[in-house]
Amino acid sequence: MSHPIRSFGAVALPAQRPKVAARTLMLDLKVNRSAFSDPAFTENRASGIHRWVPWIAGFSAAFVAEAIDKHAPDGGLIVDPFAGVGTTLLETVRRGVAYEAMGFEINPYAAFAAHAKLEAARLRVAEVRRTADRFRREAPTAAPAAEPAGFHSRILFYSPRVLAQVLRALGWIHKLKSEQLRELFLLAFSSVMVKFSNYSYEPSLTSRPAVGKALVEDADVFEMIAGKLDDMAEDIASLQRDCPPPGVGKVHTGSWAAADGLIEEGSIQLIVTSPPYANNYHYLRNTRPQLYWLGFATSPDGLKAIEQASFGKFWQTVRDLPPIPLQFDFPELEATLGKLRTLNTEKGHYGGGGWANYLATYFNDSYEFLRRFRRLLSPGGVAVIVIGNSIVQGMDIRTDEILAHLAESDDVGLRAERLEVARGKRVGNSIINSSVRTGPAKTATLYESILTLRR
Ligand SMILES: C[S@@+](CC[C@H](N)C(=O)[O-])C[C@H]1O[C@@H](n2cnc3c(N)ncnc32)[C@H](O)[C@@H]1O
Repeated sequence: MSHPIRSFGAVALPAQRPKVAARTLMLDLKVNRSAFSDPAFTENRASGIHRWVPWIAGFSAAFVAEAIDKHAPDGGLIVDPFAGVGTTLLETVRRGVAYEAMGFEINPYAAFAAHAKLEAARLRVAEVRRTADRFRREAPTAAPAAEPAGFHSRILFYSPRVLAQVLRALGWIHKLKSEQLRELFLLAFSSVMVKFSNYSYEPSLTSRPAVGKALVEDADVFEMIAGKLDDMAEDIASLQRDCPPPGVGKVHTGSWAAADGLIEEGSIQLIVTSPPYANNYHYLRNTRPQLYWLGFATSPDGLKAIEQASFGKFWQTVRDLPPIPLQFDFPELEATLGKLRTLNTEKGHYGGGGWANYLATYFNDSYEFLRRFRRLLSPGGVAVIVIGNSIVQGMDIRTDEILAHLAESDDVGLRAERLEVARGKRVGNSIINSSVRTGPAKTATLYESILTLRR
């Protein structure tokens, strides 16, 4: 469906916006208990291969496996448009050749991690172990790599004794001839690199002194990397022992918006995904060390394009724009954003207006995402979406319910089958500007839902 475009401030708006019906009854769908396992990543920390790279918003392998059992038991194409570090993709390919996995991930570091995990099944375990031993012996005297161009941090990222080891370790890894092994070693390095730095995840990247932790003056960098490689070798061995020959898995470094050109219409059996929550968690800022030290970024400008193409952009990129309208007609959401715009106006772009712009961008992207992926789903195909609510300037924004309404609008045409609350209490940074947690949502809690949509 194409819309004649009329201009509205900085943003193009269709002359006749498609309608989203406020079917309050829809919320009868919502149940407070989910048949699925907890979708949170925590459990992946102890699960083979998934444990390699902790990802703040990753979800659990068991949850993905259940979704596949339920909706694609016989194989097919399974897609994760927000692939993160590849939980969906890995769980799909390990089921064997009847399955194909495709993912999109805009953060080059996360996409790299997903790719390395998908390739791991093809590595020879004995070679990984031998190379890790060689690393232990040779890296401490290897020629050091140069420090990454353009990487700056408020306080020294590595103390001098740590830095000297890091540069030698990287110098050794860069010389590895096998591309697959080099990728695996770089992943091992990047998954532990913050542990021996003067920063930590809280869950946002913060300097250790800022949270009362001591600087890391020294550490056994070589052993921490080699130990990680031992774990990796063990996981690859059990994957090869326990699983059938893997299906094909691909991850595209870039936005889900490229899916149109890469996926045939009507071909997706199942989507299992979790888009960024409307909590302005800045994946790019929080992975700056990995992005720079692995060479995916050399200047802030390089990251700007990724910021702009990110789902929902970020509050920082839209807060100072003129009011951003919704691309669809949804009076209830309009009213919510209208109310938000009136809150804390004295705080300039920290007040409600900036956040209303962020949410409007977020829901416009959600709408476009649902519209485009509906066409790619096979008839009867299913999308299982994990999403949490947000508390913004004291207002409870029920992202899960809003997505269900958007999915059911005429212009999207999906059926919302289930909306299950998976976790009634969620900790995390979804309370945006908690100092104003005195507004209408004083008693609201953060939760996480699983939304099942069917074409
Ligand atoms: C909630 S996380 C998904 C984590 C994933 N389920 C896992 O287990 O690793 C959302 C991801 O969406 C990515 N993302 C944001 N905007 C995107 C876009 N336009 N296209 C593709 N990925 C995007 C973020 O970088 C982030 O990794």
